[in-house]
Amino acid sequence: MVLLIAVQSSPAKAQTPLAERGLALSKLHCARCHIVSESDRFTGTSSTPSFKIMIEFLKDWEERFGSFMARNPHPAHIRLDGDDPRPEHLPATIREVILSLDDIEAILAYVDQMAVDLGKKQPDD
Ligand code: HEC
Repeated sequence: MVLLIAVQSSPAKAQTPLAERGLALSKLHCARCHIVSESDRFTGTSSTPSFKIMIEFLKDWEERFGSFMARNPHPAHIRLDGDDPRPEHLPATIREVILSLDDIEAILAYVDQMAVDLGKKQPDD
């Protein structure tokens, strides 16, 4: 699922409330493993790609972000609010993250914002 989010037309610094919420959610739920912004360069785990690196170097970054919930290793610890709980015989190895569709939309808006800032996406795409 790829959600396309409209961002304001002023290029580099377009900041929408949705993208700001996405940044906060990314810091809360993704920064444990990924570097999600310039200001948290020293978080994350070194084996996990930063959001910026993925946007800059993966041609299909948009598709990957649009489906991150289904991509490894996320199904082991992130699930959609309302989905069945994890089966008890599969213990979570780390604290589970439960996201709503609105949360995911905000995170993708933040990632889109980052892509616009990096010149990898047109503001109105
Ligand atoms: C427990 C650690 C962890 C957390 C928390 C985490 N990720 Fe990841 N993520 C990873 C690792 C490790 C990879 C690299 C997987 C690989 O290379 O196969 C990855 C890969 C990705 C990818 C690329 C997927 C692909 O198949 O190319 C995206 C997009 C992504 N993460 C987004 C997110 C978002 C958004 C969040 C927060 C909602 C998040 N991740 C939370 C560990 C994590």
